[in-house]
This record gives sequence, C-alpha cells and structure tokens, in this order.
Amino acid sequence: MFNHLLVHRDGPVEYVTLNRPDVRNAFNETLIAELTSWAASVRDDAALRAVVLSGAGKSFCAGADISWMAKTVEFSEDENMRDAAAASHMFGALNTLPVPVIGRVHGAALGGGVGLAAVCDIVVAEESAIFGFTEVKLGILPAVISPFVLEKIGRSAARELFLTGTRFSARRAREIGLVHEIVNPSDLDTTVRKYADECLTGGREAIAAAKALIAQVWDQPFEAAVPLTAAALAQRRVSAEGQEGLRAFLEKRQPSWNRS
Ligand code: COA
Repeated sequence: MFNHLLVHRDGPVEYVTLNRPDVRNAFNETLIAELTSWAASVRDDAALRAVVLSGAGKSFCAGADISWMAKTVEFSEDENMRDAAAASHMFGALNTLPVPVIGRVHGAALGGGVGLAAVCDIVVAEESAIFGFTEVKLGILPAVISPFVLEKIGRSAARELFLTGTRFSARRAREIGLVHEIVNPSDLDTTVRKYADECLTGGREAIAAAKALIAQVWDQPFEAAVPLTAAALAQRRVSAEGQEGLRAFLEKRQPSWNRS
C-alpha cells in the first residue's frame, strides 16, 4: 500500500516505520504524501489507541532529502511554496492525531527528523542518538518544523541550536524537552511499549480531549483559558466515558476500556 512506510497494527497500537533506510529515512515528496495520507486514514479510527513512530535501518530520520531539495531549484516559486506547504501539512496532521504518538528515536534525528520527534507526544531515545537542526549548514533553515519545535524547546534553545546547526546529544535533547526518556538500545522497544501500554489504561476520548486542550490552552491568557478549561472538564464529566471511569473508581473495579 505504501512505498516508503511500513505499517503494522498490534491490537490498539499502530507501528509506523519510515522505510528509506538507504538515505536514513530522509523525507522526499512520496514519504511526505504517504505519512499525510496515513494520518488521515487513522484519524477517525476508534479502535486505534496509540501510535509508535520509528525509522528503519541505522537512523530515525535524516530530515529532508537533500537530493530532492537540490532539484527544487528547477521549480517555480508556486511549486516551491506548494512543496514546502505539503511538509507543513504532514507535520500538522501528525501533530493533531487524537491518540498519543510515541517516537522511537535511534541513530540520528536531524532537521525534519527532529521535527518528526517534536510532533510526537512522548519520545524515547537511545542514549547514543544525535539530534541537530543542521539546516543552516546547508544554507537553508528549519522553517516548516519551527512551530512544532519552538513549542517544545522554547526560544532560547532554538536561538542557539537553529543558528549554530550544531549536533547535540540525547541528554541535551531531554534537557530542552524534545526527549522524555533515554535508554540503552536494548531497552528501546520495551520502554516504548511501556508508554503505549500506559496510554491504553486511560479513556480514549479523555486522552484525545487532553491532547486537544493542551493545544487550545497553550499561550492563552488565563481569562481566556477559564471558559475553555471549564467546558472541557464539564463535557468529560458527564460523558459516558467519564461516568464509567468515575463509577469504576468508586466501585473498586477496572473501567470498561481497561478490561482485557
Ligand atoms: N538526504 C538525502 N540523503 C541522505 C540524507 C538526507 N538528509 N542523509 C543521509 N543521506 C544519504 C547519504 O548521502 C548516504 O548516501 P550514499 O550511500 O549514496 O553515499 C546515505 O544516506 C548514508 O549516509 P551516511 O552519512 O553514510 O550514513 P551514516 O549512518 O554514517 O550517517 C547521518 C547518517 C544522518 C548522520 C548523516 O548521513 C548526515 O549527517 N546526513 C545529513 C542530514 C542532514 O543534514 N539533514 C538535514 C536536512 S535539511
């Protein structure tokens, strides 16, 4: 079904693997289109509870395909704008999936590869993974990924890392909020699965609402946030899922979504 993506469903968890290992899973237009269409295909899938994003071969993702970008000199301005916007839409589609997206980072995550990590809700990285916004070294800039990356790492780290293009460690990535846990390579899959399993113990609609709330409330002044947060909580409390979760606690039993 896809040329550059491997997709495998294990019960409620979907494993999505970028599969261009020869070029360290660099993004070309096909991979961008495939990830965008995959995201659209699962957005309304009520059986899906978590996604694991990873890369095949030696690295997570080496960012935009440099050979493909070099060819864009032949594009018209409109074509170049369309092309860049397609990448923005892909990151946006992944960023707003209503289920937790867990990034499994090994090897390198550079340029758009860090962007991909930034649109994950939870990122587990192996201790030797390297990160970098290397774009300026190629005479370009980390543009389409910037909204997602800035939200995660803030301005100060971005000013250093975007401007130097330096490569940095998983430890630094964790300090600036890109990575949540660093593990030995042999523990990468079990740690990723631990996060996925934890996500399965929450209500699906509650998790989707929590994710949407973070996006909505972010940067809102307190007065504007009050009606948003009140409405979000009021809706969840009276929902069937909210009622089931609250009753299950009081009745000292597992909620319906948590019974195997
Ligand atoms: N676009 C296109 N091809 C890429 C690529 C990219 N972003 N990143 C790596 N490749 C290609 C290499 O050119 C090489 O091709 P070749 O086998 O035809 O020579 C192949 O992938 C393997 O790369 P190599 O550097 O030998 O692998 P490595 O495992 O030692 O190192 C990286 C992997 C990702 C650390 C290294 O390739 C790298 O630094 N790439 C540049 C990434 C970058 O700057 N991305 C930002 C883009 S905006």
